[in-house]
Amino acid sequence: LWKVRNVCCIGAGYVGGPTSAVIASKNPSVGVTVTDINERRISAWKSNRLPIFEPGLLETVQEARDGSASRRPNLFFTTDIEAAIGAADLIFVAVNTPTKTSGRGVGRASETGFLESAIRTIAEVAETDKIIVEKSTVPLGTAGLIREILDAIGNPGVHFEVLSNPEFLAEGTALKDLLLPDRILIGSLSSPSGISACDTLRNLYSTWVPQSKIITTHLLSSELAKLAANAMLGQRITNVNSLSAICEATGANIEEVSNAVGLDFRIGPKMLNASVGFGGSCFKKDILSLAYIAETLHLPEIAAYWTSVLELNEYQKDRFAQRIVRCLYSTLTNKKIAILGFAFKKNTGDTRESPAISICQALLDEGAQITLYDPKVPKHQIWADLVCNGGEGTEENITICETAYQACHDVNAVVILTEWDEFSNRQPVEPARMDWERVAKTMRQPRYVFDGRNITDAVELQKLGLRVEHIGKSL
Ligand code: NAD
Ligand code: UDX
Repeated sequence: LWKVRNVCCIGAGYVGGPTSAVIASKNPSVGVTVTDINERRISAWKSNRLPIFEPGLLETVQEARDGSASRRPNLFFTTDIEAAIGAADLIFVAVNTPTKTSGRGVGRASETGFLESAIRTIAEVAETDKIIVEKSTVPLGTAGLIREILDAIGNPGVHFEVLSNPEFLAEGTALKDLLLPDRILIGSLSSPSGISACDTLRNLYSTWVPQSKIITTHLLSSELAKLAANAMLGQRITNVNSLSAICEATGANIEEVSNAVGLDFRIGPKMLNASVGFGGSCFKKDILSLAYIAETLHLPEIAAYWTSVLELNEYQKDRFAQRIVRCLYSTLTNKKIAILGFAFKKNTGDTRESPAISICQALLDEGAQITLYDPKVPKHQIWADLVCNGGEGTEENITICETAYQACHDVNAVVILTEWDEFSNRQPVEPARMDWERVAKTMRQPRYVFDGRNITDAVELQKLGLRVEHIGKSL
């Protein structure tokens, strides 16, 4: 086995940051250094205003980064990538792999340029043997390409072993997912040195993950399993969302349908919430990548199958926006609409591929004035998502508010786009939970609530004189 004294993680984002913090926290004798080309991100990780919001993250980072009477600091953040690589025995590569915006496979294939650049730096800098762990989600066969690059430009005296170890955390629950994972997946070559590298990585996880949850596979299976998991989760939500359209057209209730279906042990209850459409940086990108891989393998039927999941997700977002317009007498000119929630899901400030972006754009295109509130998304991010990409005049029609009450004041309709607990009326009103009665009093006719996340009790809202539209329910 390899002796691991120092671990390095290239990429200090939503995956690299939390994953490194947990590895450091659970392996106090190992030094963990997180590096990034983005200086602002690194200095934020060194401060107490972390660059991402994730419940419990600050405490975990502080424990390992700042140390205490009973433990030495072992989590470090730096932009000195070369030094961090030089000192590391094992390197996680957790850089972004977004959908390509130009060139071959544009709009579908995943961009592996950031990953290649990280690998080149490793090849150029490394003077001692290293295990390189593919943490990013990558196209099938990427580990093989990494080995080719290392063979071509790496120091011939240095031995590299490449592993695939995809990350399955979801944003908003990252710490819980890292601490109690369903499984840890490690893909390796079946050579003796591949297996030894695999066991070395296993040891790093074994300090807190039971052995039975650490599974090992071939490199290609591991790479494909990550794409498959995201594709199947996205497809599952799309299944429910497709049924929500049938519910709205008939009077069936999607919550009752999901509950009845999910009680089948073979199906299970999770990820069956109807919504305004799924968002986030992973599902769309990874389904596009899977479809593109199928296409390059001359499997057009398979590509079309997965592409249809994305088409339906777009349809679901559009259908919701159109329903708002239709209910508001088919015109939004001179109408004011409050948007509650802009993040792609609760407990994160992330807006990548958030359904709120295209829904707000559709409402703005119809001439609406929107007032918007999200508890965690920074103002500049909303501005970047809506105004920088929006048409002329967008700026004058958007007001970003500090509270839900401000956003809902004097509006014709309230639209819930993220399932933040504070917007729900299913619990008693608390300081942190909004008072719908107060909201209802300040709204203008026709006083609609469009709940794109089904987090409100419609009967209670109706008692306040509000008209309510839920996903997959016709009231
Ligand atoms: P991110 O954009 O938040 O972070 C990636 C970081 O890598 C950025 O800070 C960027 O500056 C840095 N970077 C890029 N090239 C670099 C280089 N050559 N050297 C050093 N730093 C570099 O991305 P993320 O959300 O953390 O996702 C990272 C990977 O993990 C992706 O492949 C993604 O598909 C996968 N993933 C993401 C999630 C999630 O919930 N976000 C979950 C599982 C897997
Ligand atoms: C996803 C995967 O869950 C995770 O395993 C992977 O590592 C990264 O991609 P993430 O995108 O962070 O995680 O969040 P997730 O909880 O999966 O939600 C994705 C989107 O689906 C969100 O917009 C969410 O609101 C939506 N969703 C989720 C639904 O519409 N209905 C559901 O039942 C669950």
